[in-house]
Amino acid sequence: MFITLEGPEGSGKTSQVPLLAEFLRQRGFDVLTTREPGGTAIGEQIREVLHRLDNTAMHPRTEALLFQSARAQLVEQVIRPHLGRGGVVLSDRYADATLAYQGYGHGLDLAQVGAIIAFATGGLKPDLTLLLDLDVEMGLQRKVNCGDWNRLDAYTVEFHRRVREGYHQLVQAEPERWVTIDAGQPSEAVQEALRGVVMQRLNVEG
Ligand SMILES: Nc1ncnc2c1ncn2[C@@H]1O[C@H](COP(=O)(O)OP(=O)(O)O)[C@@H](O)[C@H]1O
Ligand SMILES: [Mg+2]
Repeated sequence: MFITLEGPEGSGKTSQVPLLAEFLRQRGFDVLTTREPGGTAIGEQIREVLHRLDNTAMHPRTEALLFQSARAQLVEQVIRPHLGRGGVVLSDRYADATLAYQGYGHGLDLAQVGAIIAFATGGLKPDLTLLLDLDVEMGLQRKVNCGDWNRLDAYTVEFHRRVREGYHQLVQAEPERWVTIDAGQPSEAVQEALRGVVMQRLNVEG
């Protein structure tokens, strides 16, 4: 099963993934965690280029393509092999982030963005996507507080509002794949909610 966590900046994805993975491992699942952009040696180099604060000249199409390069490598080198072994893959962001950020955020054509995603992933889609939904200002404030600030975080608040709204559109378009969780709750409550959803899905899927 391929599970992805999505959501605006500071919604708790990176802090929740290891806890959820550990919970599933204790229940006997072979869990591999990864993150985007990155998750491979090549992808982590691309991550550096994408996140560098001095890369202000980067065009949205450049950005979109760099994300797909990192993703193609991650899918082939890491995600597909682990799914092929019958494992669970838990990813901190995936293709929906490109639709939300480069599509809804930057305003790139959604059909064109969808086409480069399909090319990069070879059509691999998550079985379940968990949206950690949070007020944009609250999320950015959390990021400022923890000092983990990159080039994409530094886009305008309006950009981040379009991203969040984009995620809501993606949920509406494919409600069976998505579950929305209120990320404004304390971390422990968010983790409880994530565990509940994932266990239900894993049982249903056998
Ligand atoms: N539910 C929460 N309540 C308060 N602070 C949180 C919560 N979840 C995460 N944080 C804090 O917010 C910051 C960003 O969290 P992080 O997991 O890196 O978010 P993301 O990966 O979604 O951007 C971290 O300092 C983290 O400790
Ligand atoms: Mg993160």
